Amino acid sequence: MTKNTIKTVKIKDIINECKGVKTIYFNMKEGNHGGYIIPKAGQFVMVWVPGVDEVPMSLSSYDDKGNWAITVKDVGECTNAIHNLKIDDFIGIRGPLGNNFILPNDSSKKLILIGGGIGMAPLKCLSLEIMKKNLEFTIIEGGKVRNELIFLDHFQSYDEWLSKAIYCTDDGSYGEKGFASEIFEEMISDFNEKDFKNMIIYSCGPELMLFKLFQICEKNNIEFFASLERVMRCGCGLCGLCGLDPLGLLVCKDGPVFPLHTLKKIDDFGKYKRDFTGKKLILT
Ligand SMILES: Cc1cc2nc3c(=O)[nH]c(=O)nc-3n(C[C@H](O)[C@H](O)[C@H](O)COP(=O)(O)OP(=O)(O)OC[C@H]3O[C@@H](n4cnc5c(N)ncnc54)[C@H](O)[C@@H]3O)c2cc1C
Ligand code: FES
Repeated sequence: MTKNTIKTVKIKDIINECKGVKTIYFNMKEGNHGGYIIPKAGQFVMVWVPGVDEVPMSLSSYDDKGNWAITVKDVGECTNAIHNLKIDDFIGIRGPLGNNFILPNDSSKKLILIGGGIGMAPLKCLSLEIMKKNLEFTIIEGGKVRNELIFLDHFQSYDEWLSKAIYCTDDGSYGEKGFASEIFEEMISDFNEKDFKNMIIYSCGPELMLFKLFQICEKNNIEFFASLERVMRCGCGLCGLCGLDPLGLLVCKDGPVFPLHTLKKIDDFGKYKRDFTGKKLILT
C-alpha cells in the first residue's frame, strides 16, 4: 500500500457546516487495505467519486483511530456529487498527499492561524495538532458574509487553547468589518521587532488574501506559511498541471504549504493560476 493507492471507504458521518459546505467523515483504518499512513495537518487527499471525477481536498481533521474528515464547498460537478452522497455511500481516497504545516519546537512562539472561507479546512486540522501539543493559538477567520464563517463552534469549544479569536466579514454582518489581512495588519500595528520575531503565521484561503498577508509578513520579518490551491489532475507530481513559474515547483508535491522564502521566488503567487488545459489566467 502506498499513499497513491486508492482506498475505498464508507462515509461514516456528514455534518452541514453552513449553506453549501459539508464535512464528510470516513475511516482509513477499516477494510483490508494493507497499511495505514498517519496524515498531518496541511496535507490533502484526492477524493474519487465513482463515475464523476477525482478532486483534491485538504484534511480538516484526523484522529488516532483512523477517522479522517474533509470539508467540501459545493462549487462544481464533483463537489456537488460529494454533497449528494449519503452516509454508507462509498468514495475513493488517495493520500495523504503533499507536505504539511510545521509547528515549532519552541513553545513560546505565538501561533496565528489566518484563514478565509473554505481555507479554514486545513487550519482546523492544524488547530487540533496545536491543541494536542498543548500550545496556544490565535485565530483570524474571514468570510464574505456571516454564513461563510465555518467551525465557530469548534474553536469556541476549545477556548482553553485559544488566546484570541477574531472573526470578520466583508459586509460587517458578523464580527469585525473588513478583510482578514486588514484585521491582522491592525492587530500588529503596535507590535515591536521582538514580537514579530516570536510569531508564526499559518494561512489558507483566497490567494489575494494570502498575497497581502505575505507582503505584511515580508515587510515585518514575520515567519509565514501559506497553503496554495491550483487545479490538479494527478495529485502526485506526474502531470505538471499544478506547476508554479518560474521554479516549476508543484503544488501537489512540493506544497501545498510554502514558506515565505519560497513564496518570494514564485512569480505566479498572487498573480496567475492555470485552467485545466494549463493556460495561465490572471488571479481575481
Ligand atoms: C491542495 C488543495 C486542497 C483543497 N482543499 C479543499 C477543501 O478542503 N475544501 C474544498 O471545498 N475545496 C478544496 N480545494 C478545491 C477543490 O479541489 C475544488 O473546488 C474542486 O476540485 C472543484 O471541483 P468540481 O468538479 O466541483 O468543480 P469544477 O466543475 O471542476 O470547477 C468549478 C470551479 O472550481 C474551480 N476549480 C476546479 N478545481 C480547482 C482546484 N483544484 N482548486 C481551485 N479551484 C478549482 C474551477 O476553476 C471552477 O471555477 C482544494 C484544492 C487543492 C488544490
Ligand atoms: S496535479 Fe499533476 S503534477 Fe500536480
